[in-house]
Amino acid sequence: MQKTVGVFYFSGTGNTEIVVNLLGNEILKSGNKIEIIRIEDILKDNVYFDVNNYDLIGICYPIHAFNAPGIVYDFIKKLPRVKDKYTFIIKNAGSNFLQGGSTKIIKNKLIAKGFDLFNESLVLMPSNIFTKYPDELSKQLYLTAIKKVNRVVREILNGKMRRQKNSVFLTLFTGVASFFEGVGVPLFGRDLKVSSNCVSCSKCVKNCPRGNIRMEGLKVKFGWKCMGCLRCIYRCPNGSIKPTIFKFAVFKDGYNLQSIIENSEIKGEYITPGTKGKYKEFYNYIFNED
Ligand SMILES: Cc1cc2nc3c(=O)[nH]c(=O)nc-3n(C[C@H](O)[C@H](O)[C@H](O)COP(=O)(O)O)c2cc1C
Repeated sequence: MQKTVGVFYFSGTGNTEIVVNLLGNEILKSGNKIEIIRIEDILKDNVYFDVNNYDLIGICYPIHAFNAPGIVYDFIKKLPRVKDKYTFIIKNAGSNFLQGGSTKIIKNKLIAKGFDLFNESLVLMPSNIFTKYPDELSKQLYLTAIKKVNRVVREILNGKMRRQKNSVFLTLFTGVASFFEGVGVPLFGRDLKVSSNCVSCSKCVKNCPRGNIRMEGLKVKFGWKCMGCLRCIYRCPNGSIKPTIFKFAVFKDGYNLQSIIENSEIKGEYITPGTKGKYKEFYNYIFNED
């Protein structure tokens, strides 16, 4: 029987969106239906949705400090109570260190509302913070994501259970990391400065998922609600937005995975069985079929 899948996602800088689009294509290819909705549009009351329209619900997000970004929790608060609604999670992170954190906190919130979280996967994508990956590795992670997403689609359509192991340590660690992130990111937002090449196009105002950026005359101003997603920095057409104290966190020359994906000269063959050094942690993830 044909299934209808509803996918709700947040993506700061486009990686999760790429994963979600791969998922969408694969679900359509399988002869099923999919509706994809951005969480930020729901929270801005721009989109109506009814979970009862879907046989399966997917929630997709990037890992921020070993946890889901706050906006995902805001969305979960907004979800109605349901009865045993099959639900899956795809989280994406720049590294599989500690599985990108615990999903226990999110899982408990979903289960309390009647969502049956039966399948969870971590898909690795290039990091958009602190360390810029070589383009060849970024492409290889994207090519691997295609395979991982195909596996997820097979599993979710067949109701296969895949649950992440969340030890007490991992859940505690996630809670602590999130606490510090919660304190740090508003400060990060206040640290953002706009350079003189800003043309007051107000794209950053429209783009901010939190509604944290406003224009005062021709000047761009930042509030206290930043969640550090980095979209305003990397999507500014003139590269005008930069942190001053936290400048070590962002890439000087920007971040744009889509251009790497479209560049046919980048083959995506970075990790091999002989890879040594800091990126060898990706070997198992890339070559393991699971
Ligand atoms: C504020 C912030 C915190 C992050 N924390 C982690 C982390 O704890 N672990 C990790 O592997 N990647 C971390 N990342 C990297 C992102 O999860 C990763 O690059 C992701 O693919 C970005 O997805 P997006 O483009 O959809 O926002 C972090 C990124 C940001 C902006």
